[in-house]
Amino acid sequence: MNDFLGYVTRSTGIVATLLMLASLAWGLLFSARETGTRLRPAWWLDLHKGLGGLAMVFTGIHLVTAFADTDLGISLATVFVPGAAGYESTAFTWGVLAFYGLAIVVFSSWPKLLFRTRRTWRAVHLLSVPATVLACVHAYQLGSDAGTPAFRVVLVLAVAAVMYPLAFRVINVVAKTRQAPTRS
Ligand code: HEM
Ligand code: HEM
Repeated sequence: MNDFLGYVTRSTGIVATLLMLASLAWGLLFSARETGTRLRPAWWLDLHKGLGGLAMVFTGIHLVTAFADTDLGISLATVFVPGAAGYESTAFTWGVLAFYGLAIVVFSSWPKLLFRTRRTWRAVHLLSVPATVLACVHAYQLGSDAGTPAFRVVLVLAVAAVMYPLAFRVINVVAKTRQAPTRS
């Protein structure tokens, strides 16, 4: 049984990380209005929300199976309290912080936007960037598959693919700030 739970923990962790990276890329492309003309912006936004929601679901399964796998000896405190793990504690801490970051991003946006001003909501939503970075570090430090070439290649390619939307969005924000009328 524990073997099965171990495989589910590993596979759901990998899928959740890839979904977070994909959701990040889609969100950045949508907000930068870099979605081309072939597909409607609403399609990109819906896909972004779907990817984000699925990332939350897979992370939930990942936590439950990691806790249920008695070989790992993970306590509830390890799952919910950053720094509570006795061994490999920093890797767990990054995972817990990534989980909270993801949960805040998702549940401040769904089923409805929690904040009155778009500005505050966006500031909170951008927690998604450090949360995704922490998820990747957690995976790299703790995963049984982390040492394998396939894992490294997939992680490096996925992170590299997010760099284009990220750079594009940063350039887009800088350009908008410069264009904004200045008060004299
Ligand atoms: C399922 C819940 C989610 C909903 C409902 C949601 C909703 C949105 C919306 C409406 C936007 C567009 C904002 C705009 O420019 O008008 C957006 C952008 C964005 N989202 Fe999400 N999102 C969700 C989950 C996620 C997740 C899980 C991540 C990443 C881990 C993420 C990362 C982003 C990023 C980086 C942007 C671009 C923000 C910017 O550059 O200003 N979102 N999201
Ligand atoms: C957003 C949150 C999280 C994401 C995306 C995530 C993702 C991952 C990934 C990709 C792996 C590597 C799997 C492998 O290749 O072996 C992993 C490993 C692991 N994670 Fe997480 N994780 C998160 C949070 C947590 C939390 C809060 C815990 C605390 C219980 C946890 C427990 C574990 C364990 C025990 C492993 C090692 C599994 C093994 O190799 O046997 N994760 N995680």
